Amino acid sequence: MTHRKHSHAFGTITLTVTACLLLWGFQLPAWAGDATQIEPLALRKIMQELGRNMQAITGAISQEEWVQVVQLAPKVAAHPEPPLTKKMRILAYLGADATKFRNFDAQTHEAALAMKLAAASSDGKAVIQSFAHVQESCLGCHQAFRKPFVEHFYGAR
Ligand code: HEC
Repeated sequence: MTHRKHSHAFGTITLTVTACLLLWGFQLPAWAGDATQIEPLALRKIMQELGRNMQAITGAISQEEWVQVVQLAPKVAAHPEPPLTKKMRILAYLGADATKFRNFDAQTHEAALAMKLAAASSDGKAVIQSFAHVQESCLGCHQAFRKPFVEHFYGAR
């Protein structure tokens, strides 16, 4: 009984914290135009790292260096996430599109894992096929989100 009360209280606290974060997040668009918006998002650094890793994988594929692909693929699959505050800003901006955004991210994740497995069995053709799937997931998200995203967070440039 005591235990149940305790976990109920914990649930309430979690809900309250979540609600505060959400409220805080949804207030953020009002800051548009504020200088803080110009600071590059952590997401951009993560993306640049993804780009470099994909280039390194292209190099490894042309050398048939499958061990290198096995090492690089997880860096694409499990890329770091933006810190919580920035993530909240992004989620608040995405609103109902957050699920679509996350699905593209999950596609990248799954295709990169398939690429790792293919490389682990030195199956060059399968590596290239899954590499194409990874790129389709990058492209899909970029086509849907990149332009409006950059316009929102950095202003049209
Ligand atoms: C879930 C959505 C999503 C996925 C998946 C995604 N990206 Fe991005 N990417 C973005 C957004 C949004 C931007 C714009 C961010 C910005 O400019 O701050 C971006 C920007 C970039 C940039 C430009 C960074 C710059 O300096 O302007 C590169 C490079 C990039 N992504 C590489 C990749 C690669 C490679 C993959 C796949 C392995 C990938 N992205 C998958 C959403 C995504």
